[in-house]
Amino acid sequence: MQNNHNNELEFQLTGKLAFIRTFGCRANVSDSEKISGMLAELGYGFTRNMEEADLILFNTCAVRENAETRVFGNVGALIHLKRKNPDLIIAVCGCMVQQEHITKKLYDTYPFVSLIFGTHVLHKLPELLKETLSGKRVINIDNYEHIITEDLPIKREVEKPEGEEGKIKADVSIMYGCDNYCSYCIVPYVRGRERSRKPTAILNEIQMLIMDGYKEITLLGQNVNSYAGDSESGDKITFAELLKQIESISGEFRVSYMTSHPKDLTKDVIDVIANSEKISYHLHLPVQAGSNRVLEVMNRGYTIEQYLQIVEYARSKILDVSLTTDIIVGFPGETREEFLETLNLLERVKFDSAFTFIYSKREGTKAAEMDDTVSSEEKSAWFTEMLDVLDKVSGDAYERFVGKTLRVLCEGVGRTGEYEFSGRSREGVIVEFNASSNSEAHLDTINHATIIGEFVDVKINKALKWAVIGELSIVD
Ligand code: SAH
Ligand code: SF4
Ligand code: F3S
Repeated sequence: MQNNHNNELEFQLTGKLAFIRTFGCRANVSDSEKISGMLAELGYGFTRNMEEADLILFNTCAVRENAETRVFGNVGALIHLKRKNPDLIIAVCGCMVQQEHITKKLYDTYPFVSLIFGTHVLHKLPELLKETLSGKRVINIDNYEHIITEDLPIKREVEKPEGEEGKIKADVSIMYGCDNYCSYCIVPYVRGRERSRKPTAILNEIQMLIMDGYKEITLLGQNVNSYAGDSESGDKITFAELLKQIESISGEFRVSYMTSHPKDLTKDVIDVIANSEKISYHLHLPVQAGSNRVLEVMNRGYTIEQYLQIVEYARSKILDVSLTTDIIVGFPGETREEFLETLNLLERVKFDSAFTFIYSKREGTKAAEMDDTVSSEEKSAWFTEMLDVLDKVSGDAYERFVGKTLRVLCEGVGRTGEYEFSGRSREGVIVEFNASSNSEAHLDTINHATIIGEFVDVKINKALKWAVIGELSIVD
């Protein structure tokens, strides 16, 4: 929405270097891209080496306690850099500092942290920084949770992992915040109410990215299925309709989306995906637990039976769909029997992979008031047990791709050095492949520059746990 940009503030910091470290999920990475954009406009360059930075900024996550502990440790370790360079600005932003008690602790423990700002005031960064540079300690964790910042500059390159090639993949936020209040989760408290961007703004941004050469766009939201953006005519546009409109943008590109919430994933979204050419066949569908009682106390809004129905529908409509999930172990009050129901679910669904977490108590959430009956030893034991089950039931999930030819977006050179290239299939599966075992004639036309960042066909001949392996097929 509004932005008080540097033109008005009239200050430039040419020659200064910023170091940004992002913790947490893609929403945070996306915010860091905006922060980088604003810093670049102020004249900052970027470094991956903290030692040479004039500004060190940690963009933090609050989803589990260990995420926060890590940040405290990392910030504490900056004291020696501050001693060497008293002009160094140390800033902390993001979800963690949106909690008042944490900000207070950070402010009191680390006097060398001179700027703290929350998730709702990103657009104010230039003015906050100016104030900091004048020698003040600045905190702003105001909660303007209705704000959608539309016109901030975005610098996507800075957030790419080292070695990743340029303009291939880009994230586009379609909504902010979350209204679901799952009883264990801090996100609604630190990100504010759910709000959707206008479809025209999203479509324009994607159009520009495609024109700029990007080949994979990931739509971001805590629950993309509850997207409800205002169209020009004032009607609400659903996620299924938004996907259709994105699909109609011309060019070969792929559209991914995360995260889907099982309670809001409707059959029409699955139908749109099944009938599309550009929409990813990867569905990340966090189930969290296998027991209906636990799901209810978690406030998830679906039963296991409903979850299984949607999985079955997706598998019947979307060829080779890749299903992944999130699981929490040791939710307050969870019994051994209930935990076994989660294992049973993993055995039934055979996800391609699962992100597994031990429950972490988050102050301010509903679950934090419940009796945490599961001991930490028990939680750890269950966690290990679950990993074993996952390994057993999902370890060979990628075998279904062997013998098939997949359309792969080549993202760079092989991850392990064993294969020449690495990319991802439409199902989101990592594909490692060689081109050089093709005939000499073909090799003439292949070089790294022409493959990286392009869609290619790869014949799969082997499945590993984390990837499939194949060979480039040349279409004459
Ligand atoms: N909006 C997304 C992602 C939320 S955070 C969704 O609903 O799926 C990502 C994952 O972190 C969640 O799916 C959940 O499995 C896990 N998580 C969230 N809060 C947690 C907590 N307090 N303890 C352990 N895991 C948690
Ligand atoms: Fe957290 Fe639930 Fe919202 Fe996901 S849907 S961000 S788990 S409250
Ligand atoms: Fe963490 Fe905030 Fe994302 S709490 S998971 S960075 S929305």
